[in-house]
Amino acid sequence: METGFATSMRTHTCGELNKKHVGLKVKLCGWVHSRRDHGGIIFIDLRDRYGLTQIVFEPKHNKQVYEQAVKLRNEWVVMVEGVVRLRPEGTVNEKLSTGFIEVLADKLEVLNKAEPTPIVVDEHAKVGENARLKYRYLDLRRFSMQRNIIKRHEFTLAVRKALASLGFVEIETPLLIRHTPEGARDYIVPSRLHPGKFYALPQSPQLYKQILMIAGFDRYFQIAKCLRDEDLRADRQPEFTQIDLEMSFVSEEDVFKVVETFLKQAIKECFGIDVKTPFPRITYAEAMDKYGTDKPDLRFGLQLVDVTSIVKNSDFEIFSRAEIVKALPVHVELSRKQIDELTSIAQHLKSPGLAWVKVENNALTSGIAKFLKPVEKELLEAMPSNVKVILFQAGVESRVNQVLAALRNKLGEMLNLYNKEELNFVWVVDFPLFAWDDENNKWDSEHHPFTGIKPGFEKFLNEDPGRVVSRSYDLVLNGWELGSGSVRLTNPELLKHVLKIIGLSESEAVEKFGFLMEAFKYGAPPHGGIALGLDRTVALLLGFNDIREVIAFPKNKAAQSPMDGSPSSVSEEQLRELHLKIVNDKND
Ligand code: AMO
Repeated sequence: METGFATSMRTHTCGELNKKHVGLKVKLCGWVHSRRDHGGIIFIDLRDRYGLTQIVFEPKHNKQVYEQAVKLRNEWVVMVEGVVRLRPEGTVNEKLSTGFIEVLADKLEVLNKAEPTPIVVDEHAKVGENARLKYRYLDLRRFSMQRNIIKRHEFTLAVRKALASLGFVEIETPLLIRHTPEGARDYIVPSRLHPGKFYALPQSPQLYKQILMIAGFDRYFQIAKCLRDEDLRADRQPEFTQIDLEMSFVSEEDVFKVVETFLKQAIKECFGIDVKTPFPRITYAEAMDKYGTDKPDLRFGLQLVDVTSIVKNSDFEIFSRAEIVKALPVHVELSRKQIDELTSIAQHLKSPGLAWVKVENNALTSGIAKFLKPVEKELLEAMPSNVKVILFQAGVESRVNQVLAALRNKLGEMLNLYNKEELNFVWVVDFPLFAWDDENNKWDSEHHPFTGIKPGFEKFLNEDPGRVVSRSYDLVLNGWELGSGSVRLTNPELLKHVLKIIGLSESEAVEKFGFLMEAFKYGAPPHGGIALGLDRTVALLLGFNDIREVIAFPKNKAAQSPMDGSPSSVSEEQLRELHLKIVNDKND
């Protein structure tokens, strides 16, 4: 036997044979990928994870085996024995590593038949999302999906290796826990032994990793499963995986260095790409100002310009009265159709519309140009010199930024402004510590209450919580938030103060995070960390914009698994054991 993949049922894999094996008697196992009948000779492409091998059944060579092969259908599982030979000239397939040879079959055994498959196992077949998820085992048989899942495995392994070499210890944390303070809804699990009590599934190992620092492990990491009951999008799943880490006696710089080192190493190892480090940094304030988002895609320019003070004096009432007006100058002419497309994106985000003007011969034309005549000169001076079109949004700052950020991303794609291969990492730093919660009319933690405060900003805790800058940071790649973390707040007095500002009384805080606060009493080292979305990282590295392409068994957009039918009902008996009753609430 020549190969590590040989078993008692095969001598080689379907991706292994080449010219040097010509004349060798081999035994292969796999799925019938395709079957062709060429005037009395049958060809099958036999497939396994490693590749395709062409098998030939000739009646003049072995009539009985040929007749068996006539009956073969796609996706049957077979074992074939035969001799490797060169393919006749003109039939070579140079795209396949096995494309120079074929196996002339002496023996065929059908290991298992397959019914006609509901989805075709083919790279190029267009299959609806529901069918892909319902028959995921067929979807996963495709080489592209196998490559994605295997790349994910290789990347995870490389990350583990890199972090271990930096002294990080992988420690598992529990799945049945008390609520964690990440801000999404928990999945909860009823306790059979404790009627009326529930476990929560972890939204992240946050509190446990901090406790591991207090326990003295110094450097922890975990490839951690996290569960959050939140609305799903292309970059969000209810179950996802984090590369989670925490380190003691560190500042932001130390965390950045570790992340840059392990990412650089693992990306080089698995994808052969040289990532330039250190990653550049941008403050939250600058990101919001110039790009309208805290996850800017910096593969292209297109910066926003605040024109509030300029257009105040225009004849356009919507502008002169707005809280803020921002412009997005575009250096390429846009067609009417493109402007309509952008307008519908703005409307989709609940903007009343998209105001725009064209710039021709250093003058504003079309759109709302006539209303802006009084401020034309000033406005043009505020724009980059090559501007051809200016898009505007006016209104409340958060909406203005949200809409312009979406338009900017769309324009980047529409106008081909970036190289799709580029990996543009950026650290976003200096986030505010608190975010104003409009719904409940109170301050809330921007990340979580254990986020450190940037030295010098403690004084604003009392005066103006909105001005407090935190020690948290995000890692952004090509406009996606890849990771988030912070140097933690380990000073008990400051922690109490923060909890008070977000409206948690001491007893509520103890109720929620009591065990961490208790642990803090017994000698907590200063510490900090980060969690990177593994699914997002691998998806972006493979060029996908949907993380489901790199998750073996994802949920659909309604958080269901069409394959196993979850979520599903449970029996009365199970409910009774768990002390639960289903109430059909009419308001549900
Ligand atoms: P955060 O909640 O920002 O931080 O999550 C960190 C990273 O996890 C990924 N992520 C997700 N990926 C897929 N589906 C989801 N539903 C989902 N939610 C989050 C993102 C995100 O950047 N405990 C803190 C980290 C820390 O402070 O150390 C945390 O979980 O890539």
